[in-house]
Amino acid sequence: LENGLALTPPMGWLAWERFRCNVDCQEDPRNCISETLFYEMADRLAEDGWRDLGYKYINIDDCWSAKQRDAAGRLVADPERFPRGIKALADYVHARGLKLGIYGDLGTLTCGGYPGTTLDLVEQDAQTFAEWGVDMLKLDGCYSSSEEQAKGYPAMARALNATGRPIVYSCSWPAYQGGLPPKVNYTILAEVCNLWRNYDDIQDSWDSVLSILDWFSANQDVLQPVAGPGHWNDPDMLIIGNFGLSYEQSRSQMALWTVMAAPLLMSTDLRTISPSAKEILQNRLMIQINQDPLGIQGRRIVKEKFHIEVFLRPLSQTASALVFFSRRTDMPFVYTTSLAKLHFPEDTVYEVQDVYSRKIISGLKTEDSFSVVINPSGVVMWYLRPIALPAQPWHVVRQ
Ligand code: GLA
Repeated sequence: LENGLALTPPMGWLAWERFRCNVDCQEDPRNCISETLFYEMADRLAEDGWRDLGYKYINIDDCWSAKQRDAAGRLVADPERFPRGIKALADYVHARGLKLGIYGDLGTLTCGGYPGTTLDLVEQDAQTFAEWGVDMLKLDGCYSSSEEQAKGYPAMARALNATGRPIVYSCSWPAYQGGLPPKVNYTILAEVCNLWRNYDDIQDSWDSVLSILDWFSANQDVLQPVAGPGHWNDPDMLIIGNFGLSYEQSRSQMALWTVMAAPLLMSTDLRTISPSAKEILQNRLMIQINQDPLGIQGRRIVKEKFHIEVFLRPLSQTASALVFFSRRTDMPFVYTTSLAKLHFPEDTVYEVQDVYSRKIISGLKTEDSFSVVINPSGVVMWYLRPIALPAQPWHVVRQ
């Protein structure tokens, strides 16, 4: 969507995967969907380095509203759980240099059973969100037909535009249409939405991460070309910092989402996140790669029979990122290849930086053979820049 927004993949925090539709503020006041959760998370984003690295959006998901619209038919926040209302929350968030996202659903009800936005209410709800000072809308697609979605998603884009407020528009439309052509028209989608969920919801498990990765890789010929500044595929939230991923798997999700040019929307408790999860999510070079201004989505370029995969993302200024990914379950694997085998241009010399270890390898020639050691369900990630300098002798690298 050409609204000048989301020129790089949006970054921030989204409540759903970690906090779901927990509305029991009596029993679980700290974790229920209430304004307290968002005020506290906004403080963490602003004070713990997140915002300054680009994690600017704090996004409400389902179950924020009252079960009924007000007398004028407007959406209202649940009065018990959001006593100060969404506008006050938006003001608080903005005062801290952050942006507020909200959730709606094109249909009679949200997926969690709260009031939805039927076609006749699209303009009114867009207006309400704009008046509150909302900066991003995730529009889900439970309880609507394909025909209603084909009308409603473009209608909401027009309605948001008509408010005059810049609002990033995240559409779940393709996820409800199987994610693939001919049911999904990615040309239209890229004109209507800034980002879109193509596939299933992420859950707090490695299996879930793998199933999403596999679907995106299997369909990369369709998905990869449609991503770019202002219009992104969304493989769903980062679950790093929660319960389902090991350390290696957390590093893998971060690296793989980064090469896929995915939005980096964390869904974890920033009040209690471990230092190691924080370090993964706050890796500067990683974020720089994710936010590369060219906005080219990466692709899986190698799938070895022995369960090693290689992903490549071209970056601006002829740089690139490589992710060597192991799906093995035995032990660290020594993978030997060369940039020539990975189809890099001939007779070029590269400076390589390992994105996690920070080690620099200078003078790697296209034809040189090298090895990386990849841990089970882990990655080695490289940032490569061609250098003009004459080649240094290159030796096998063991990390
Ligand atoms: C759907 C979406 C999720 C989340 C829930 C809320 O399942 O895909 O991301 O928003 O609805 O109910």
